Amino acid sequence: MSIPKKALGHVRVLDMSQFTPGPLCAQILGDLGAEVIKIERPNGNDDRRATPLVRGFGVYYALNNRDKKTVTLNLKQAKGADLLRQLVGRADILIENYRPGFLAQLGLGYDDLRKANPKLIMISVTGFGQTGPYKDRGGFDMIAQAVGGLMSLNGDADDPPLKAGTSTAAMVTGLNAAIGALAALQHRDRTGEGQWIDVALLDSAVSQIEADLPYFGLTGDVLPRVGNRRLYSAPANVFKATDGFVYIAPGVDAIWKRLCRVIGRADLADHPDYLTNEARIRRVEDVERVVQEWVTPRNKDEVVALLVEAEVPCGVVNDVREVLDDPQVGARQMVVTASHPTMGDMPVPGQPLKMSGTPLKSGRMVFDPGQHNSEVYGELLNLTLDELQSLQKAGVI
Ligand SMILES: CC(C)(COP(=O)(O)OP(=O)(O)OC[C@H]1O[C@@H](n2cnc3c(N)ncnc32)[C@H](O)[C@@H]1OP(=O)(O)O)[C@@H](O)C(=O)NCCC(=O)NCCS
Repeated sequence: MSIPKKALGHVRVLDMSQFTPGPLCAQILGDLGAEVIKIERPNGNDDRRATPLVRGFGVYYALNNRDKKTVTLNLKQAKGADLLRQLVGRADILIENYRPGFLAQLGLGYDDLRKANPKLIMISVTGFGQTGPYKDRGGFDMIAQAVGGLMSLNGDADDPPLKAGTSTAAMVTGLNAAIGALAALQHRDRTGEGQWIDVALLDSAVSQIEADLPYFGLTGDVLPRVGNRRLYSAPANVFKATDGFVYIAPGVDAIWKRLCRVIGRADLADHPDYLTNEARIRRVEDVERVVQEWVTPRNKDEVVALLVEAEVPCGVVNDVREVLDDPQVGARQMVVTASHPTMGDMPVPGQPLKMSGTPLKSGRMVFDPGQHNSEVYGELLNLTLDELQSLQKAGVI
């Protein structure tokens, strides 16, 4: 018998979440081979309508909800709650992102649902966690970036704090949730025990502060925002070529010497004022001026070609259109085409995990709310067509 090449081919996930983190976690598990059933309220979740919209459909929703079956379910009706318990009894993982307490009020909290399935792995995504003084607050990525300190680290020293260009707190929350799910599956398979996983946008934002946190603890210094620079090495910045920008970052002292030679400043390679990163950081303006003088008359391709030849780390600053055309991005299949019946074909990120034995797949996009009601409720819960019709009439599904 041939074993299907899906790492999570034996796993069923119920995705009762919306916006980015929960749906992203479910999608990662689905790309790894799990069956994912998305449970939405009867008229579809709010994030279907989250902007930007193209031909009436939300781009974020399309992006984070590939290859899921979609069913509708009104949890506030007793019959709806009962159907959820039945689905949980046939699932491995449940992902939800309601405010803490909402599901428990309906008799659908972790302690209730584990009665339906003691092996259940339940992932609850919140803004601030299930505990602590802020636990009842709703949260979005930008709020977590603000409270978690990330925003204070972005931007230039004299400008206000700056949000990252993408939902980094939300996306890292989705990744953390997926890591938790994979570990919990291992634990369950060894012991038969399920568990509850509490992941919060705030926690995932704080976890991204990096070296500034221990540095503050050790020295008492809150480091300033430095824009495109790196605080800990020089030169490391965006430099302006004739047709765009290039990021140049030798990073270590030996590569700084190579950079000096390629830019025609061999005199600086062994100069004691520039020998170490620490020394160069003290003279960062001088160091950057020297590099910029070399970059100024050249175009980006020439700059990159000469630096790559000299083995100095660098890269052009691509905009989204240029990412699509970048040969390395193409070679790694990091932009693939996904089709939506109404929106049309669109480029979406490919798989960042390349697994030799169980390759990931990127499936089709989810379309109408409840598109798979009869398949899921009929086949999984053995409901008849008549029962489905009366549930629909009663607003349960
Ligand atoms: C995103 C967020 C702020 C939205 O807050 P909200 O809409 O006020 O509250 P909830 O998400 O808890 O949703 C509960 C509401 O959804 C309704 N609802 C959602 N799904 C339902 C379903 N299947 N059946 C019945 N009702 C449903 C309920 O009516 C309830 O409304 P009510 O309080 O008026 O009774 C909040 O869910 C949150 O903080 N989530 C965690 C963090 C997160 O994931 N943020 C977004 C990503 S960055």
